[in-house]
Amino acid sequence: MARHPLGGERLLNLAASSKLPQEIYSNSSIANLLFNHPDQKTRILAGEFFRRSDGAHLSLTEIVQLKGYPDNGADLFTLHCISCHKMGDRGREIGPDLKNIRRKFDKTALADAILNPSAAVTFGYEPVMIRSKTDQVYSGFLLSEGTTTVIKDLEGTLHTVVTEDVVEKEILNNSLMPDPVGLGLKAQDIADIIAYLQVQPIL
Ligand code: HEC
Repeated sequence: MARHPLGGERLLNLAASSKLPQEIYSNSSIANLLFNHPDQKTRILAGEFFRRSDGAHLSLTEIVQLKGYPDNGADLFTLHCISCHKMGDRGREIGPDLKNIRRKFDKTALADAILNPSAAVTFGYEPVMIRSKTDQVYSGFLLSEGTTTVIKDLEGTLHTVVTEDVVEKEILNNSLMPDPVGLGLKAQDIADIIAYLQVQPIL
């Protein structure tokens, strides 16, 4: 991947050689830029040095080395994930169905998707906000945009607006998926959820 203007790589090289002042590691704006960096290596390395929004230290390299317990992961998945994700016939269809996710993602990529949801938003799930001529505002996912613009909101309801009547459209940068701090997950919880996602039979 090409170098990114954020200069994440240089910053992390300095961090690795302990050349940065201590305060920087608790600077949330810098940390957020790095956790949302387009390059996966930069995101992974950032987790080694930088703290998350509540000061938690969640390192991807540590998480993938933990032994995960799929049964516990199943409980955590029911608690934190099925409000947005389908797993077989359970769950809601706000995010992608995760039944066959282990075919798409290995352990590292799964950990990255859970740790840094806004870094690489799945195609088709970029959140948008539109405002119509009559001042109605809808936010959710853009399903189609031809003569009509169709938005699916977080309840799963479809809203159709004639495209000519859309006066404002904003693509939101952040995924609608909360990060693990928002979900209250610890390193072992994430390892357990990953183990659960990895034992699903491929259909
Ligand atoms: C509030 C809704 C919401 C919750 C809660 C949520 N997610 Fe998500 N998730 C999404 C959305 C929306 C996407 C697609 C956008 C993106 O990639 O960030 C997504 C994407 C993902 C992806 C990438 C899927 C792909 O095909 O690229 C994984 C893996 C994932 N979520 C796992 C989880 C796990 C595990 C949990 C529970 C710990 C969880 N999510 C909780 C909404 C949610």
